[in-house]
Amino acid sequence: MTQKEKLLEVKDLKTVFHTIRGRITAVDGVSFEVGGGEILGIVGESGCGKSVTSQSILRLYDEKKQVTYTGQINFKNTNLLELSERDMQSIRGNEIAMIFQDALSSLNPVFTIGEQIAEAIRVHNKGIKKKQAMERAVQLLELTGIPAPEERVHAYPHEMSGGMRQRAMIAMALACEPKLLIADEPTTALDVTIQAQIMELICELHDRLGMGVILITHDLGVVSQVCTRVVVMYLGQIIENGPVQDIFQRPLHPYTAGLIASIPTLETEKRKKLYMIKGSVPAMDKAAKGCRFYDRCERAMDRCQECPPPLVESENGHCAYCWNPNLEGATSLRERRAL
Ligand SMILES: Nc1ncnc2c1ncn2[C@@H]1O[C@H](COP(=O)(O)OP(=O)(O)O)[C@@H](O)[C@H]1O
Ligand SMILES: [Mg+2]
Repeated sequence: MTQKEKLLEVKDLKTVFHTIRGRITAVDGVSFEVGGGEILGIVGESGCGKSVTSQSILRLYDEKKQVTYTGQINFKNTNLLELSERDMQSIRGNEIAMIFQDALSSLNPVFTIGEQIAEAIRVHNKGIKKKQAMERAVQLLELTGIPAPEERVHAYPHEMSGGMRQRAMIAMALACEPKLLIADEPTTALDVTIQAQIMELICELHDRLGMGVILITHDLGVVSQVCTRVVVMYLGQIIENGPVQDIFQRPLHPYTAGLIASIPTLETEKRKKLYMIKGSVPAMDKAAKGCRFYDRCERAMDRCQECPPPLVESENGHCAYCWNPNLEGATSLRERRAL
């Protein structure tokens, strides 16, 4: 599959939670695509709906009690929202795998790493013998760069460091050779050197195995290094979408420009002054009727408060929803910060 071919197409996805305090539309009309060999970044501050978007793709919330999904999630031309729970189960782990921030809570404490990886292999390859599955588990651990994998395969999750556990979880996700890997803040809990190693591993596996990757992170620095395209979310909606270079060189939306200006650089570390977007993410029902970023926006105009922002398109499929986008393209906030 070439990079241009669609692997996943999310169309006008809405995820509504039914809570005792009423309905919360945590994902509100989100659309994006992921190509076969592509690494798509989803970024935005905490609470913007990144995790809900990724969990919705796999329909991980309980549709009987908790949540309603609308829109389309087309994976290899099948709308996942129309599948039965049973068919969904064969998609999860098999075709689409997911890794999380916290490996400890997704690994089972009472089984060794090897047993868990072998089990994942056996669920998806019914004929395979236990011994063969264990051998494959060792190979997968080796692929993720775990030292002495033939010994580590017998370790329990609590006997491993955070970085090693994360690698083990990646090995488990790869056990079924998924077409799409969703990585939700996979390195947030780790220290910086280990973070870089894990990111390198994900990129290397992406190159070698050719799977599509959705990388969810609040760290734009990581995105600039590894992603081909970026989706920027704010309060449950996409506000900008485009190729990584276009986004970083010519951000259209003031929110994106603010996120880029907030990335620490060597310079800012020296001066100890870092740009910050004013205010914080408001509750969903407290946001302005028009643009949800209105209260925090330095380029806001009167109509931004009342009217939903229009779609502005630039080159290479780069687009944003904004009444007053930065069309000159300079990251003016960076310059202002230097003054
Ligand atoms: N299980 C849930 N029940 C109700 N609301 C939820 C639930 N999970 C998330 N939300 C809502 O969705 C919003 C977005 O959450 P999330 O996707 O976890 O943000 P992010 O991953 O971008 O930090 C939260 O602020 C919360 O209001
Ligand atoms: Mg999250």
